[in-house]
Amino acid sequence: MSLQKVAAALASVDWTCGRIEREDLLAFYHPVTLRKLESLRIWLAERVPLTREPTDAVADWIRMVAINRLSGHSPGFFSGRSMPPNQAVSVKAQLKINEKLGVTPPERDVVAVILKKTQTLLKDGVPSGQADHCLSTGQAWSLTDIKDGQVDLTVTSPPFLDIVQYAADNWLRCWFAGINPEEVAIDMHKTEKAWTDMVRRVLVEQARVVRPGGHIAFEVGEVRGGKVLLERLVWQAAEGLPFEKLGVMVNDQEFTKTANCWGVENGAKGTNTNRIVLLRREF
Ligand SMILES: C[S@@+](CC[C@H](N)C(=O)[O-])C[C@H]1O[C@@H](n2cnc3c(N)ncnc32)[C@H](O)[C@@H]1O
Repeated sequence: MSLQKVAAALASVDWTCGRIEREDLLAFYHPVTLRKLESLRIWLAERVPLTREPTDAVADWIRMVAINRLSGHSPGFFSGRSMPPNQAVSVKAQLKINEKLGVTPPERDVVAVILKKTQTLLKDGVPSGQADHCLSTGQAWSLTDIKDGQVDLTVTSPPFLDIVQYAADNWLRCWFAGINPEEVAIDMHKTEKAWTDMVRRVLVEQARVVRPGGHIAFEVGEVRGGKVLLERLVWQAAEGLPFEKLGVMVNDQEFTKTANCWGVENGAKGTNTNRIVLLRREF
């Protein structure tokens, strides 16, 4: 990957073909910016459709960077003043923000925004040599790409019951990528029993893939105002499986302004501590 390749690929986009299909998105974008984003979506859908393995790494990179720039607080994003795209606000909330600040979204130079972020991401270069890593997606209890006993260390963090609204938070990214968030299988459990059953399924699969002597760091947080300690449920879910329970590391942190925006108040609201359950696969 290089800045030149990304610039050349962006120069091949027909920036005039996009039409405004969703008027509501004008809450986030200037009409010119929105038409450009629609043009980019058309170009990406042709170059790197989600229905097959990507064959154009540069186009795939551009999609990744663009998704990261959809909304935010500064001119480095396509939107006017907003919140980050991993927890995008709703159209209604964005209209309220615009009204409160007395602003409408300014026009952004889509190409310049993508190139600037690309430059930042590539500032330390790209990993050299043959890639020995692999990224696969799927249900955490069915790791079909991983052979028995192949893993030294698993670091994982499941959804904490039903605390995070993944589909709602990711609606803007899903729009851009052309994904229906309702069709993505994301675990959300209201009851402790259902959540523990899910963790049990995951740990059974972990007992298969982690090598004897290998470790699992299973991160959870305290929820329901500290009344539900998920690490205890992980402990319970591991019962009878070939794991040595090494302990729980509690990371009690001071949260700052971003966390406060999302309803965390030190010691009072939200998830204030991370709890990492440490397990070792028995021999
Ligand atoms: C608490 S977040 C952890 C995020 C991750 N640590 C990271 O930094 O990106 C939980 C993640 O689990 C994913 N998830 C939900 N259900 C899943 C499942 N059944 N199998 C695998 N992953 C799942 C969600 O999409 C979400 O990204």
